[in-house]
Amino acid sequence: MDIKQILDWYILSGVEETAGEVPFAKFEATPLEGKKLPILKNVQESSVMTRQASTVLSQATQDACKDARERCQTVNSLSELKELVENFDGCALKLTASHTVFGDGAEDARIVFIGEAPGADEDRIGKPFVGRSGQLLDKMLQSAGLERSACYITNILPWRPPGNRTPTDGEVAVCLPFLKRQIDIIRPDYIFIMGGSAANALLDIQDSISRMRGHWMEYTDANGRKIPVLASFHPAYLLRNPGQKAKSWVDFLRLKQKMSEEKE
Ligand code: URA
Repeated sequence: MDIKQILDWYILSGVEETAGEVPFAKFEATPLEGKKLPILKNVQESSVMTRQASTVLSQATQDACKDARERCQTVNSLSELKELVENFDGCALKLTASHTVFGDGAEDARIVFIGEAPGADEDRIGKPFVGRSGQLLDKMLQSAGLERSACYITNILPWRPPGNRTPTDGEVAVCLPFLKRQIDIIRPDYIFIMGGSAANALLDIQDSISRMRGHWMEYTDANGRKIPVLASFHPAYLLRNPGQKAKSWVDFLRLKQKMSEEKE
């Protein structure tokens, strides 16, 4: 095949981009030397063994991460953080997105729900979880007796990856400080993560959602505050695999049970 045929074939297969968001000198990147890989990250009732994620990021991506982290330290409210994210130019996903989809909900929420990235509907409207996945999430919240407006709903990424492709490790790393700062500001009592990619990103682990779900894990915020974390299937996965809804329902009940135990 000549180059033109290869490109036509890529386009037919749905490829929308041929390069990452930053130049990446593959041969200059150094592996994470001396980093212990197998670690037991989870605590409390969990028996899930997880591996720390080992990602090699280009210098440009590392610089963008540092910039995002430093900017986050300059803001102390969600409205300031939202403005900061909207004005941040260190992630190329912003160039193809229609809206910055910042978190939505109460600044004093007890629970933060986290998904992966906005989809087409969220990108069009500018709010997280408003499409089909969001409608299923709304039903699950309602069935569990949780008010959506009393919760905070957000994503790992504030910009939709083109064509809903899987975000790169670099895109996740650059956007993670924004999510972490939202958590620092809200100081929730619980975090509920929807989907394996979001759980792996926030907890810096590598594990499958089938193994993680249903086990209480822990996230430590920037102030050393430990927040119980439960992960479960992503609503989009449940729409494709309705047979798994019962397991997600059990996870919602587990969250409700912990909330009511700790209230007593
Ligand atoms: N899927 C997500 O992970 N987040 C959204 O906001 C919508 C769909």
